[in-house]
Amino acid sequence: MKLGPIVRGLLSFIPGANELLPKRKNGSADSSEGCYYDWLKHLGILYSNGVTKIPNTFAELGPGDSLGVGFAALLSGANVYYAMDIYSHANTEINLKVFDGLVELFKARAPRPWQGFPNIDEYLDENLFPSKILTEELLTATLANDRIQRIRKAIENLGTPQGEILIEYKVPYMNSSVIEKESVDLLFSNAVLEHIEELDFTYKTLYTWLKPNGIMTHLIDFDCHNLTKQWNGYRKINEILWKILVGKKMYLINRQPVSVHLDLIQKNGFKILCNLKKYRTDGIKRSELASKWKNISDDDLTCVVAFIQAQK
Ligand SMILES: C[S@@+](CC[C@H](N)C(=O)[O-])C[C@H]1O[C@@H](n2cnc3c(N)ncnc32)[C@H](O)[C@@H]1O
Repeated sequence: MKLGPIVRGLLSFIPGANELLPKRKNGSADSSEGCYYDWLKHLGILYSNGVTKIPNTFAELGPGDSLGVGFAALLSGANVYYAMDIYSHANTEINLKVFDGLVELFKARAPRPWQGFPNIDEYLDENLFPSKILTEELLTATLANDRIQRIRKAIENLGTPQGEILIEYKVPYMNSSVIEKESVDLLFSNAVLEHIEELDFTYKTLYTWLKPNGIMTHLIDFDCHNLTKQWNGYRKINEILWKILVGKKMYLINRQPVSVHLDLIQKNGFKILCNLKKYRTDGIKRSELASKWKNISDDDLTCVVAFIQAQK
């Protein structure tokens, strides 16, 4: 167990004390490259599952330090983007910086091999750009100068439509009514669902927002997020120490294994399109598990990342 997370957990009980700690990075959304990679990775897997239409209305849960993944979706042809977070990590300055970087990456058709998911390499051209998905014809239209200017203006004026483009940052979002029922074509999250405690409610809400036949795509990261020395060391921690670690933080990790996500997704009416898992066997041994996790399956114990796509 690392000491830092315990100290941060204890400090969170003192109002304002966490403000004294250095601001932490929330994923990879503070860089244009990170957003470009994340969007293209999800898009490639969607394609491999037969979802070949760029969504008109795109919604993201937990965008993190910028709204860059949504901007990448807009630059690929989406027109409406809703971003929902519980904390306002992003601001206009970082959003514009990430957006300008994304425009350059798309204009250059920058290569982005999807590390770790080789089953979608077939969509890459010889320059490692997914031109079989984002065709020249499509990008000529989506990257037209006047369209780029409208997206930029929509970033500076969140919530105000600029022609066909609308970007809304709903933060903190408190209930499902922040988005109109059945209005979203594609729902996206990257390294977010491992943080949400109310998973059943969340999947129910996502179902409500999606149009009939709408799609959701999630990458769920079961790594310890720097809490413990071993990647799944949090399954060794007893419940009293865990309560201290969580403290009064807005979110930490929910520790729910992949099988819980899959069960809830199906229980809430979705059809699973894909369930790509990555495994690690270098974590803690079964004999080290805290009593809460004694009966966990081998699959749940060793699954470190899951890529789940499902259809309403
Ligand atoms: C690890 S960051 C990931 C950020 C970004 N998606 C990325 O891949 O870089 C986790 C994000 O989930 C958000 N989050 C945590 N709990 C949430 C909740 N209940 N609903 C929506 N977002 C949440 C956090 O505020 C943060 O933006």
